[in-house]
Amino acid sequence: MLVSAKEMLAKARDGKYAVGQFNINNLEWTKSVLLTAEELKSPVILGVSEGAGKYMTGFKTVAAMVKAMIEELGITVPVALHLDHGSYEGCYKCIEAGFSSIMFDGSHYPIDENVAKTQELVKICEEKGLSLEAEVGSIGGEEDGVVGLGECADPAECKMVADLGVTMLAAGIGNIHGKYPENWPGLRFDVLEAIKKEVGDMPLVLHGGTGIPEDMIKKAISLGVAKINVNTECQLSFAEATRKYIEAGKDLEGKGFDPRKLLAPGAEAIKQTVKEKMELFGSVGKA
Ligand code: 13P
Repeated sequence: MLVSAKEMLAKARDGKYAVGQFNINNLEWTKSVLLTAEELKSPVILGVSEGAGKYMTGFKTVAAMVKAMIEELGITVPVALHLDHGSYEGCYKCIEAGFSSIMFDGSHYPIDENVAKTQELVKICEEKGLSLEAEVGSIGGEEDGVVGLGECADPAECKMVADLGVTMLAAGIGNIHGKYPENWPGLRFDVLEAIKKEVGDMPLVLHGGTGIPEDMIKKAISLGVAKINVNTECQLSFAEATRKYIEAGKDLEGKGFDPRKLLAPGAEAIKQTVKEKMELFGSVGKA
């Protein structure tokens, strides 16, 4: 069932668990995430970065694929198709393409411009029944060409954006896209607490879910995080499983070069990663 992320996140916030956003790159990724969500009876958010959307030939292709896959695989759990770190123009393209949720990342604009653009999108998303994620204080690291310096969000600015009526808010708390460096000092729970105080009931989003220790994930959820984004970890498990297959010479045995065989270990590895994350986030059985 393709739905907005509004209800699943309200439930997660009230039930003190988080819904995973798993970024998709192709058909295999999408299929693995959807099948795992269905098997575990978990709500799920499929994240699509602008780069991944382009790679898959455009947002219309992605929306058509996801809708058809939900039907053909008989997926009954709530699924949101969500633009990840959308530009202003990208948001409009995804609304038109039939996404059920968008993120407008206006964190690189001056706060007044971020507020004005977010406000405009709040109105459109309300009219069309989409959920909307806003961002304050950039996420560190690089994802698909979007580079953030990783500054912590200002709680007062978070309140300004939350008050606009967005569905969920991504606020930088020392989190980074991609692998965390050895000397990473950890999440800034003091900042998270200060933000939570300002934004009240607003479901908070934790980006950079790859490599955050389990105890920090659990603490973040207890402090109001209701959505956690994972991208790099699925890419790493897919690459590792594919490398093992090829290094073992399996592509040279019989019809091992058939893409359906060659990509199967990677697809299974994504399922395993998604399962582990859903168990850690507490969303299993919550569909
Ligand atoms: P990772 O790539 O670190 O898992 O972060 C994913 C993310 O935050 C997507 O927006």
